[in-house]
Amino acid sequence: MKTLVRLAAASAFLTVGLAIAETPAPSVAATPAAKVPVNPNVEEAKGIVKAFATQLQGELKAAIEEGGPVKAIGVCKERAPAIAAELSDKTGWQVKRTSLKTRNAELDTPDAWEQQVLTAFEQRKAAGEDVQTMAKAEVVETETGKAFRFMKAIPTGEVCLACHGSEINPKVAAALDEHYPNDQARGYRQGDIRGAFSLIKPL
Ligand code: HEC
Repeated sequence: MKTLVRLAAASAFLTVGLAIAETPAPSVAATPAAKVPVNPNVEEAKGIVKAFATQLQGELKAAIEEGGPVKAIGVCKERAPAIAAELSDKTGWQVKRTSLKTRNAELDTPDAWEQQVLTAFEQRKAAGEDVQTMAKAEVVETETGKAFRFMKAIPTGEVCLACHGSEINPKVAAALDEHYPNDQARGYRQGDIRGAFSLIKPL
């Protein structure tokens, strides 16, 4: 994945398509919903992201309620990559999470395209854009042909602070140190961009 050359025309189209899809319908009924161009790849990617987020958050919440955050660390460690792998198998998309400040550097380190998009997400947030709906879609050229890439920002919610915040309980911090000696994913505040879901589909 060294040479990700941007296909300018296609990418501009997709970016615009996504922006339109993300824009709430105008209150004046001038533009019927049917006329909004829908990109099937974007819709599919969004569905996969939703399935990933819903399942992981459900399991995380259940684990915290059952055994507290220390026990839930194990769930995150085992289940996040497992759910990603299950969805990849099921859908044919490569599904992962990534971040500018990783906890699991081995799995989640961004490649050049992801790094660029994550940096742009920070700029878009600084310019006032809502992190909840922030996303990016682009067709790129890879060594094996064209691929559709999609990223969706992951906002930091209150529940995340127990393991990604700046005042982490010492027991939780010790467990994190043990599993992730090079953990960079702490010090976040609610509303920050924790990272992103990142999906690739060969075209
Ligand atoms: C119980 C502790 C815990 C909580 C609570 C938690 N996380 Fe994590 N998070 C982890 C662990 C552990 C990993 C590393 C998982 C792995 O090894 O794949 C991780 C990794 C991540 C990653 C992948 C990028 C990276 O840093 O490697 C993202 C994104 C992420 N968490 C977002 C969140 C969000 C958003 C929330 C709140 C909804 C949250 N986490 C809540 C423990 C937690």
